[in-house]
Amino acid sequence: MGSLANKRILLGVTGGIAAYKSADLVRRLQDAGASVRVAMTPAAMEFITPLTLQALSGNPVHTDLLDTGAEAAMGHIELARWADLLVVAPATADFMAKLVAGEADNLLLAVCLATAAPIALAPAMNQGMWRKDSTTDNLDCLRKRGFYILGPADGSQACGDIGPGRMLEPLAIVEALEPLFSTAILAGKKVVITAGPTREAIDPVRYISNHSSGKMGYALAIAAAEAGADTWLISGPTNLQPPERVTLIRVTSARDMLEATLAAITDCQLFIGSAAVADYRPKCYVDQKIKKDDSAMLLELERNPDIIATVANLPQRPLTVGFAAETSDLAAHARKKLDAKKLDAVIANDVSRSDIGFNSDNNQVLLVDREGTEELPLMGKSQLARLLISKLAGKL
Ligand code: CTP
Repeated sequence: MGSLANKRILLGVTGGIAAYKSADLVRRLQDAGASVRVAMTPAAMEFITPLTLQALSGNPVHTDLLDTGAEAAMGHIELARWADLLVVAPATADFMAKLVAGEADNLLLAVCLATAAPIALAPAMNQGMWRKDSTTDNLDCLRKRGFYILGPADGSQACGDIGPGRMLEPLAIVEALEPLFSTAILAGKKVVITAGPTREAIDPVRYISNHSSGKMGYALAIAAAEAGADTWLISGPTNLQPPERVTLIRVTSARDMLEATLAAITDCQLFIGSAAVADYRPKCYVDQKIKKDDSAMLLELERNPDIIATVANLPQRPLTVGFAAETSDLAAHARKKLDAKKLDAVIANDVSRSDIGFNSDNNQVLLVDREGTEELPLMGKSQLARLLISKLAGKL
């Protein structure tokens, strides 16, 4: 696995001669493990065809803001949410000026305006354009607004000039992107996260469970590991790939999850309970497959232990953060859970919405703590995970 493993990168290509290097950049990003989509400005298509980038990226190339067919497949807002990172390479002087002005009259500009993901720019232009005050001012402004500026390099240019303004080589761009995913905000800290559903056995072939996919918990574990934490993920049954740099402990039932959590919690500074733990289990496990007959079947259930409440009651408790999956009155229910389980924060989402929550790749949450309630915007689960990890790291 490469250094950008499982990252979703939207490569924006604007209209400069360095656009031919974008084809190689797609490959280099993929070699580093990223999945890549490409968005091009109209001017970029004068330098390189969408077909080339489509063939290399394995995905349709996004070019039109106002094409209803393309927007229906994956519009600018979906793209903005899909991406963990936007890289515009090459970024022309004109494109950067438009970013400063907040313009959105082509698809790539609209995605840049809409996304909550970080944006990296690899400027490429003639050395005279690079040295102009207007370009310098625009770059200062973009840096202040949190854009990452990669390069440019110095050297001979397509126009025959020599000087600064050459786009960084694709491999140098990939190397410059890697640290963006590994901040050190949780270096030296241990984080334990529960994720996925639990399964409560009825007999050897049947169980009670729920629809949790585990995606949010896994995304949090990836974000915590990226932030430098010693990360432990206690996971119920899911179909997800084990994350890199994370100690994964697979469990089945709520009682297994409690046992694994208590074993992992020593020296832990942050515990996040994102698992959808079954509140009840069958009172009696039948060790032979139950045979049907004509009468109704009654299943007596008993309460499972509350894992997060157990952690919150430990004498040496970590910062303890729970989830609340609600269908109404989000903030009020979340606050009740915060108090009832003595949590430090609750992340609440509305599971009645089909566009977020269980099984979806997007989520929109409220972060509720003792200080108040913060509404975070709708975004991809991995973007949201990074944002939540940086907010929770701030509380440690
Ligand atoms: N949780 C837990 N152990 C349980 C049940 C829940 O650790 N046995 C944790 C979840 O991981 C989540 C939070 O508690 O962080 C959810 O709280 P809970 O009260 O169980 O949520 P619901 O089941 O949705 O509550 P209710 O049925 O009261 O709405």
